Order: sequence, then structure tokens, then C-alpha cells
Amino acid sequence: MSARTAGATGGVLVTGGAGFIGCNLAHRLASEGRRVIILDNLSRAGVEQNLAWLQATHGDRIDARVADIRDAHAVRDAVSRAEAVYHLAAQVAVTTSLVDPVHDFTVNAAGTLNLLEAVRARRTPPPLVFTSTNKVYGKLPGVGFTTDGERYVPRDALLAGRGVPEAQPLDFASPYGCSKGAADQYVLDYARTYGLPCAVFRMSCIYGPHQFGTEDQGWVAHFIRRVLAGEPVTLYGDGRQVRDVLFVDDLVEALRLAVDRIGSLKGEAFNIGGGPGNAVSLHDVLERLPALTGCAVERRYDEWRPGDQPWYVSDTGRFFERTGWRPRVSAEEGLGRLCRWLTDAAAPVKPSLRVAS
Ligand SMILES: NC(=O)c1ccc[n+]([C@@H]2O[C@H](COP(=O)([O-])OP(=O)(O)OC[C@H]3O[C@@H](n4cnc5c(N)ncnc54)[C@H](O)[C@@H]3O)[C@@H](O)[C@H]2O)c1
Repeated sequence: MSARTAGATGGVLVTGGAGFIGCNLAHRLASEGRRVIILDNLSRAGVEQNLAWLQATHGDRIDARVADIRDAHAVRDAVSRAEAVYHLAAQVAVTTSLVDPVHDFTVNAAGTLNLLEAVRARRTPPPLVFTSTNKVYGKLPGVGFTTDGERYVPRDALLAGRGVPEAQPLDFASPYGCSKGAADQYVLDYARTYGLPCAVFRMSCIYGPHQFGTEDQGWVAHFIRRVLAGEPVTLYGDGRQVRDVLFVDDLVEALRLAVDRIGSLKGEAFNIGGGPGNAVSLHDVLERLPALTGCAVERRYDEWRPGDQPWYVSDTGRFFERTGWRPRVSAEEGLGRLCRWLTDAAAPVKPSLRVAS
């Protein structure tokens, strides 16, 4: 106990705050007058533009620390001032985790443990919400799939109608699934064992402005960028894979609610996504793009990628019952908003439309 730091309340800490989701969250918090501490090593290409935009927009409300989540000293210093912690910093791509699983593990699993230790060292530990992933459920073993011609669907009509609940058995797949899954379990166990006020979001596909989507991660933004650049889109698999897409503003609202209600949510995991109402196949998204962008879509096909789920849709019922949250932005509206952001010549932050294959 004597090692515990007293901790000033100097703002809300967003690890990975320069990234896509972190930037949107930091913008929302700073717009409400909150001071935001961002800890990010800027390792994701392009995110330095997000940080520069946040600083230009919000000035002193943004306290930026370019530091690594594995750096115990930097993390402890950032946490010592935090009144709440959103933990988003991560190695985010399954593909990259396959190339360098050790790096993936040290950032995602050991980095999260580092952060949890800093939170545990506080005399009054601040609330923490961790952004986990639907990949912790693997390919949903035990669930049989069929197609309705256009899309994969589970054979179980109840599952197809409601989505995947938190009762789905864990089945970590890919190094990324294992490292995020380990972090997910550590966060839940620090709530159980040490009483920390922590909760976990197991998130499906999030999309929106400030997303530097690539072939490795952020497929919705990546598809739109390719189409706008007049380049073909490669589909790994047959394009009938289904995801419940969630617009980032809806996720930001859910993250804020989770911290506000942490007293009743701590120690629990919640599946968060667009839900059955926003379930789209890869083909569905591509079919909407000519009308939204005015550009033609050229498709190419390649082998399925390891760990890819044919269908994943979140059952967000548990979080709805506890907070009343539900997605508000439809896939149609959200795709239009992302297209407008990518094509807005006046936008201060914009990924290059020419993307490497
Ligand atoms: N976007 C999605 O669809 C999605 C889905 C499920 C889970 N998630 C999780 O949400 C979180 C945010 O994802 P995102 O889409 O905003 O990704 P992102 O890559 O845009 O943001 C992650 C940020 O973390 C930073 N970072 C990476 N390694 C770091 C390190 N060692 N130390 C400090 N900072 C580091 C990056 O520079 C980047 O700014 C991640 O934890 C991701 O696993 C995202």
C-alpha cells in the first residue's frame, strides 16, 4: 500500500489517443471541456495527423505524451494524473501479429498488464475501460454456417437474429486474438482479484472519420479509399463474410457511458457492435459505394486469411439492459459520412487516397 501514489485528477487518459477511435474519443471529451492526456507512440502510419489536429483544435486541453505503453515510467506518470482511463493503444492487425507475434504480445498483453499495475498503484484507482475484440471468440466453434446465397448466416435462427452473446465460449484465434484475449482476461481479473473498477468492450468492426484504414485493419475505410483512388479492392475469401459495423460516434457514446456507470459494470465484458440491424457483407458495402462515391468498383479475390470469421454479429443486449445504449447511426448513414470525410477537400486530416497494395 505504501507504494501507492496519491494521484492528482489532471484529466482523462486515452492510451492510443492519436489513433482512429482514440482521436474521436479525445475530440468528444475535449469538446465537453475535459482535459485529455494522450499516451501514444505514433507507431500507426498517419496518426500523427490526428494528434496535430486535436492539438490545433483543442489547444491546452490536449496533454500529449509520445510514449510506449510498455514504458512503465511513462505509463505510471500518465496514470498518476488520470481521473479515468480508456485503454486503446495496441498492435491492431491480425496480419501483423502473424509476422511478429512477440511484438504483438509485448504491446497488447504485457502493455496492458503494465497499465493495470499503474492503475493498481493508485490509492483510489480510476475507472478503466479496455477495448478488446470479437476475435476472442475465434471462428465461433460449435456454430454451423450456411449461406442465403449472398451472405454467410448461422444455421441457428436465434443466433442469427440476436447476434453473439457474451456467453459464447472464448476461443482465442491468431496471435492478435491471443494477445488481446490475454489482456481482456487480465482486465477482468484485476477487477475480481484487486477490486479495480475495470470493464471490457469486445468490439466488432468500427468505422468512421480519422480512420487510416489499410488492407491489414480498418477494412471499411480501406475499401472506400481504394474505390476513390480508382484502384481494385481485393476480397480475401468470397466476400460473403458478414460483420455488424458500428459508426465511431456510437462507440464513443458507449465508452463514455461505461466510465460513468463503472460502479455497476465493473468486472464485466460487453459485446459492442452495430448489432443485427447493421450487419453487412463485404459485397453489401462495395455495392453501396458507386452511389456514395460516384466511382466504379473493381473486385479481385484471394485466399481466406487465417482467423477470418465467416459471420460475426454482436448481441449488444447486455450493455443495452444496463445502460439503455443502442447504435443510432445506420450503416447507410455512416458510410455516407465516412465517404464525405474522405472526399472533403477542406478536411484538415486526410489519408492519402493512393494506398499500397
Ligand atoms: N477499429 C476496430 O474495428 C476495432 C475492433 C476491435 C477492437 N479494436 C481495438 O480498439 C483499439 C483502437 O483501435 P483503432 O482502430 O483506433 O486503431 P489505431 O491503430 O488507429 O489506434 C491504435 C493507436 O495505438 C498506438 N499504439 C500502437 N502501439 C503502441 C504502443 N506500443 N504504445 C503506445 N501506443 C501505441 C498507435 O500509434 C495508434 O495511434 C485497439 O485496442 C484495437 O485493438 C478496434
